[in-house]
Amino acid sequence: MTKLATSITFKLSNGSSIPALGLGTVPSEDASEVKDQVKTAIKAGYRHIDTAWRYGTEIYVGEAIKESIEEGIVKRSDLFVTTKIWPVFHKNPQDSFKKSLEDLGLDYVDLLLQHWPLCFKCDNNEGDPPVPMDNDGNTLFDDQTDDGSGFIEFYKRIEELYLENPGKIKSIGVSNYSIPFLKKLLPEVKVIPVVNQFEYHPQLPQQDLINFCNEHKIHVTAYSPVGSKGAPVLKLPLVQEFADKYGVTTNEVANAYHILQGRSSIPRSSNLERIKTTVRLPSLTEEELDQLYQIGVKDPKRHIGGFFGADIGFKY
Ligand SMILES: NC(=O)c1ccc[n+]([C@@H]2O[C@H](COP(=O)([O-])OP(=O)(O)OC[C@H]3O[C@@H](n4cnc5c(N)ncnc54)[C@H](OP(=O)(O)O)[C@@H]3O)[C@@H](O)[C@H]2O)c1
Repeated sequence: MTKLATSITFKLSNGSSIPALGLGTVPSEDASEVKDQVKTAIKAGYRHIDTAWRYGTEIYVGEAIKESIEEGIVKRSDLFVTTKIWPVFHKNPQDSFKKSLEDLGLDYVDLLLQHWPLCFKCDNNEGDPPVPMDNDGNTLFDDQTDDGSGFIEFYKRIEELYLENPGKIKSIGVSNYSIPFLKKLLPEVKVIPVVNQFEYHPQLPQQDLINFCNEHKIHVTAYSPVGSKGAPVLKLPLVQEFADKYGVTTNEVANAYHILQGRSSIPRSSNLERIKTTVRLPSLTEEELDQLYQIGVKDPKRHIGGFFGADIGFKY
């Protein structure tokens, strides 16, 4: 019998456990649809929900969690909820966190991430606009420091929030951090991030970043595991071949690529049937995992690019 991805958890460096399979909650069109997506996922056994202030879906994630608890499907303590602080809140992450907790209707989050190692300009506490731009469409940054290390100050403010509110934030981490940025951050902080969440799939080889994270006991969460819109990863002939061989879907192969190598995977879908059926963990061999890795070595492709016009140290 094929194992279930929903039964796997990984230990974080602070002793907490993160479920291997999470549900992403970026909305496709109508943000309110996320409520049914989260309820469907929880019913199907997912215990990890990935959200963010920026997605505008926390209120629907919150409703889904509340109803799932009321219906006796889960307890709060069964769930692992991640939210993130967007770069407009680099000076005041506490305002973003307060709003996230209120919208989620939760007393605590399991993981709070610095969404990007970037600081956007903002002259209010509401994070408006979320991506400030000049008339030519260039993002307006607010680095605060001469040496461009504002992202470290941003992390330290999240760290302070965590140290002051241990009951409300169980763990902290980062997202979209490359090796050069991690190398600058780690010597400066008291609390080493327990997670780095970044784009990862067979088309984007990042073994050096994985090795660096492993060395520092930073768990990796892979976002865009099927390559985001259009699901390009699922069109790779090798992914289809392994799905046929193991009698699973291509989505399940895409998640297995991470989970079998100790990373959590957070796909999203507006298709409830797809959410329900993407739960098995085919036992790909080491050789097959390497064959998938080599696809990106030969032809690397990043699908969530741009980085708001900033250089954040990624090779591709
Ligand atoms: N930290 C960050 O900066 C960051 C950035 C990006 C994403 N994330 C997180 O990662 C989550 C997932 O990322 P993502 O949405 O970029 O990527 P994804 O899960 O790789 O891709 C989702 C897209 O693939 C489509 N898809 C999935 N299976 C399909 C299939 N079998 N056939 C056709 N289309 C298929 C979905 O369409 P359907 O809706 O039709 O299924 C959806 O449009 C997000 O929701 C978010 O929580 C974090």
